[in-house]
Amino acid sequence: MERSLFPMPTLLFIAAFMAASCYPSEAADSKGSFEDNFNIMWSEDHFTTSSDGQIWYLSLDKETGCGFQTRQRYRFGWFSMKLKLVGGDSAGVVTAYYMCTENGAGPTRDELDIEFLGNRTGQPYLIQTNVYKNGTGNREMRHMLWFDPTEEFHSYSILWNNHQIVFFVDSVPIRVYKNNGKENDFFPNEKPMYMFSSIWNADDWATRGGLEKTEWKNAPFVSSYKDFSVEACQWEDPYPPCVSTTTENWWDQYDAWHLSDSQKMDYAWVQRNLVIYDYCKDFDRFPKLPGECSLSPWD
Ligand SMILES: *[C@@H]1O[C@H](CO)[C@@H](O)[C@H](O)[C@H]1NC(C)=O
Ligand SMILES: *[C@@H]1O[C@H](CO)[C@@H](O)[C@H](O)[C@H]1NC(C)=O
Repeated sequence: MERSLFPMPTLLFIAAFMAASCYPSEAADSKGSFEDNFNIMWSEDHFTTSSDGQIWYLSLDKETGCGFQTRQRYRFGWFSMKLKLVGGDSAGVVTAYYMCTENGAGPTRDELDIEFLGNRTGQPYLIQTNVYKNGTGNREMRHMLWFDPTEEFHSYSILWNNHQIVFFVDSVPIRVYKNNGKENDFFPNEKPMYMFSSIWNADDWATRGGLEKTEWKNAPFVSSYKDFSVEACQWEDPYPPCVSTTTENWWDQYDAWHLSDSQKMDYAWVQRNLVIYDYCKDFDRFPKLPGECSLSPWD
């Protein structure tokens, strides 16, 4: 594949409004140990940590994968984690990192997805994102990355407020998903979500539509995690004081309702160079495009 992706805009690495420490907040700001933040969802024996407990490893073998989830739910905020993905031949392996209103695939769930689709050695990893509202997804985008995500840790983050959902890779916004300010059936904003991560076998669809099968002789496949960070409104029943439109917290404030100028430059660069698939351009699948496709990411 032709490498016409460079040069990157010089602003690429300037993490403008991510300097979140500038924004004092009384809501949850969590950087604790694994046990403070998470539960293992399944296969405890496929989870290990580094000796200092700072790096967490999830592994997949022929028997099973593994997953964890936050103990808390949140509604709106900034969610970030550093991941290093399975290296080598990882075709068929999916590492998922997502937020969801429930632990399961219920018919009315809301969900924000990041999935890393493994590939054969030397071929590019793709990152797939999706948004579900009330059980309906089908809003996939796929991007190439501008680095090899198996070599180093990179941060993957989600900004979520009532105006937009932005998926970031390091400081670069790769996808912007807007609300329209009205009641609608596409923007998840009513229910608090947990954060999850898992590794699993998806060789029925993930790599070239299921043509590439998982090479089990390379198992176990391991993805690594560290530096979980959440600045968000932690949910309490019936309704936490920090929630939503009080605009007390930086993620709910005006500057977080749209991209900054430098983020727009980075986003434009991503749009030009890295988008492999955008459901909003898929007229075969959607002869009439979904309503949210007409909302501008630049607003
Ligand atoms: C959510 O989906 C369920 C089941 O698919 C449907 O019955 C319900 O009306 C939907 N709710 C809203 C608010 O659209
Ligand atoms: C894997 O690499 C091939 C060849 O470069 C590419 O066509 C494909 O989109 C990549 N990713 C996946 C998930 O198949």
